Amino acid sequence: MRLQLLAISLFACVSHAVSYQEYNFSAPVDYFHNETRYEPHSNDVFNLRYWFDSTHYRPGGPVFVIAAGETDGEDRFSFLSQGIVTQLAATYNGLGVILEHRYYGKSYPVADVTVESLRFLSTEQALADYAYFAENVVFPGLEDHDLTAPATPWIAYGGSYAGAMVAFLRKIYPDTFWGAVSSSGVTAAIIDYWDYYEPIRNYGPADCISTIQTITDIVDRILIDHPTNHTLHAQLQRAFGLSPAIDNADFVSLLSRPMDAFQSRNWDPAVGSYEFRHYCDNITSPVPLYPQTNNTALLPYLVKSAGYNPRNKTLLASLLNNIGYINASNPSTTTTTTSNSSSQLSKSSSTSWNYQVCTEWGYFMPGSSVPANISPLLSRLITLEYTSSFCHADFHISTPPNIENINKHGGFDFSFPRVALIGGVADPWRDATPHAEWLSTRESTESEPFILIDVGEEEVWDGIRGGVHHWDQNGVFGVEGGEVPKGVKEVQSEIVGFVGGWLDLWEEEYGSGYTADIY
Ligand SMILES: *[C@@H]1O[C@H](CO)[C@@H](O)[C@H](O)[C@H]1NC(C)=O
Ligand SMILES: *[C@@H]1O[C@H](CO)[C@@H](O)[C@H](O)[C@H]1NC(C)=O
Ligand SMILES: *[C@@H]1O[C@H](CO)[C@@H](O)[C@H](O)[C@H]1NC(C)=O
Ligand SMILES: *[C@@H]1O[C@H](CO)[C@@H](O)[C@H](O)[C@H]1NC(C)=O
Ligand SMILES: *[C@@H]1O[C@H](CO)[C@@H](O)[C@H](O)[C@H]1NC(C)=O
Ligand SMILES: *[C@@H]1O[C@H](CO)[C@@H](O)[C@H](O)[C@H]1NC(C)=O
Ligand SMILES: *[C@@H]1O[C@H](CO)[C@@H](O)[C@H](O)[C@H]1NC(C)=O
Ligand SMILES: *[C@@H]1O[C@H](CO)[C@@H](O)[C@H](O)[C@H]1NC(C)=O
Repeated sequence: MRLQLLAISLFACVSHAVSYQEYNFSAPVDYFHNETRYEPHSNDVFNLRYWFDSTHYRPGGPVFVIAAGETDGEDRFSFLSQGIVTQLAATYNGLGVILEHRYYGKSYPVADVTVESLRFLSTEQALADYAYFAENVVFPGLEDHDLTAPATPWIAYGGSYAGAMVAFLRKIYPDTFWGAVSSSGVTAAIIDYWDYYEPIRNYGPADCISTIQTITDIVDRILIDHPTNHTLHAQLQRAFGLSPAIDNADFVSLLSRPMDAFQSRNWDPAVGSYEFRHYCDNITSPVPLYPQTNNTALLPYLVKSAGYNPRNKTLLASLLNNIGYINASNPSTTTTTTSNSSSQLSKSSSTSWNYQVCTEWGYFMPGSSVPANISPLLSRLITLEYTSSFCHADFHISTPPNIENINKHGGFDFSFPRVALIGGVADPWRDATPHAEWLSTRESTESEPFILIDVGEEEVWDGIRGGVHHWDQNGVFGVEGGEVPKGVKEVQSEIVGFVGGWLDLWEEEYGSGYTADIY
């Protein structure tokens, strides 16, 4: 069974350059006593974790809150110490804050995670936490200043799922959040998100992509065109070192895993992953890279069975190196997850995010849904049913996620004054945002900036065209734009510019002494 990509916006590795003191904020477990979905209701409170950086703060300055999204808030420290929020805080004498999301990190409203105790994990409850926090928080050491909204302007920043959250925050709580910058914000919840692979197909290196397509087709021709020849299927799996053979869907799912590395790319080597480039270099190499992978006798036969030329040396080399790569990266190919028959679930980001996926967000990524005229990057044996089967196994959920809970806020048409929508040209999540490739481009205005990040392949360390997942959020510590590629730097300075305009508007309407120029 294929697990949902863990946290959708997690970078491969996170550099904890700076750490911050942790604080607790007491918040209600249940804001919606009128909704039956939360029954039985709760009158309890619980601790939400937050961190802040007052380095740049001057009395009268705004608050910039980073929505931590679907991970431990500590994973976002580098977004407070460097990057766009740091630039905003430094420019406008603001306070930078990270607020953890309920049911992630240490912000659990319940002691044990069970299907029943997960019921307070919903986007609307989490949004209500953020609003309640902005309206009530008293920052230790800054008790003399009223930093609550709306006495102080609050600007929310988030990337990916958190990007959608901040957009919704501004729309649902317009009197609390003065503005929001939504980067790669997935405002559209989608059950069948086969499009995830489209930006990879369209912007990945051409030779690599066509090789992935060919290998995928070889596998599908063998498994799909010879549906009952289990001998042949077992031979194919044996070529990959799998003996005894595993379930075909688990097998092809394993083959698709290297693509998960595409979204973990970042222009900064300290946070991004080079693995997609490695994978491409492996499968396009004409020389054998894995001496241990030398089961060459079987390959021409398999290639021929799939209807391809068994004497094509380039093709055989690609296949061999693909086998070697998969074998080396997954020595124990145990792809089956044990479903939990007991009600106890692990207290982890993946359990929480999977629950959100199964209840409200979807984003299952089947290969079977790729239109017939597109040569897919993953097997068509990966069906919607297969990719969503953990919902029943882990949470006993057998109905589709209620994506209307999310899409009622606008989905692809999401738009609201003082919400900036930043996207990435080659972001696999692009087609779940208003920047979806098939939508027409909106005009970018001061009130509703609409900006797509594009970074040329010559500008990034892995040589693959970029603008992937919220590439404006991170920065280089201590360097104002030092090593940042031009495409990212320009967008960051645009953000600083339009947020300044929003703060000027606030000053005009509510001015109580704050101006950026005084300091
Ligand atoms: C925050 O609350 C948790 C319990 O929810 C506690 O374990 C932790 O020590 C508290 N942290 C601080 C800084 O008060
Ligand atoms: C519950 O209250 C919220 C406002 O707090 C409202 O938006 C929502 O529509 C209400 N739901 C029902 C079922 O009445
Ligand atoms: C099934 O595959 C085996 C091994 O590749 C082959 O020898 C056999 O002819 C195939 N059987 C059919 C019915 O195609
Ligand atoms: C093949 O991939 C491995 C694993 O990522 C990597 O270490 C190696 O450098 C790659 N080889 C080439 C030739 O790119
Ligand atoms: C093939 O790999 C095996 C180890 O898996 C090794 O013992 C054998 O010598 C290799 N054969 C060739 C021709 O490289
Ligand atoms: C997989 O890797 C192991 C360990 O290096 C090696 O012994 C084996 O031959 C490899 N199998 C394949 C199919 O590449
Ligand atoms: C060999 O395979 C490669 C990779 O799939 C393909 O680009 C090439 O056209 C093939 N050559 C022949 C002669 O079939
Ligand atoms: C199932 O329960 C076991 C034991 O409590 C735990 O280790 C495992 O992570 C759980 N699986 C999931 C998907 O939560």
